[in-house]
Amino acid sequence: MKTEVFEPKIVAFCCHYCAYSSADLAGVMRIQYPPNVRIIRTPCTGRLETEYFMKALENGADGVLVAGCLEGGCHFVEGNLCAKRRVNYTRDLLEEIGIEKERLRMVNISAAMARPLADTITDMVETIRKLGPSPLRKSEVQSPKSEVRSSKLETTAKSENGKNLQAVGSHTAQ
Ligand code: FES
Repeated sequence: MKTEVFEPKIVAFCCHYCAYSSADLAGVMRIQYPPNVRIIRTPCTGRLETEYFMKALENGADGVLVAGCLEGGCHFVEGNLCAKRRVNYTRDLLEEIGIEKERLRMVNISAAMARPLADTITDMVETIRKLGPSPLRKSEVQSPKSEVRSSKLETTAKSENGKNLQAVGSHTAQ
C-alpha cells in the first residue's frame, strides 16, 4: 500500500521592495530553500488584509508567510506596521477558531537578506510539516471537527468583518 507523505504548501506574500528582491538574490547566490513555497509579489505588505490570509488557507495553503520591509524601511511609511497588526489580529482569530496560529507568520527583511529569508522559509516548512495539513482547506473531505471549525469561522468572520474592513480602510490598528 502506498503511503502519501505530507508536503506543506506555503503561500508567501513578499513585498516588491524587499523580500521579493531577497528571494531573487537567493536565486542568484544559489541559496536553496524548500520548493514548497509559492511567492506572490505585493507592492507593500500594507495592502494585505485578513481576508487574503484566510482565503489562502481556505484555498489550499497550509501556511502563510508575510514578508515585508524592515520596520522603519517601508516605502509607504507604515505599511509593514499595518501588516503586522493585521497578521497578529488574524493569528488571534485563527487561535479562537481552533487553528494553530503558527500557520501565519510575518518577517521583516531587507532586499539583501537572502539567507534569513531562506532560513525563515525552511523553518516554516518544518513547522507546518509537524502541524499537518490545514483544516481550513476547502478541498479536503471535512471531518465533523473541521465542520464545527468552519461554522465557527463564518460566525467569527461575520461578527468581526465590519470592524476589520473599517480598520483596513482607515489604516488604523485592529
Ligand atoms: Fe515593503 Fe511596505 S514597501 S512593506
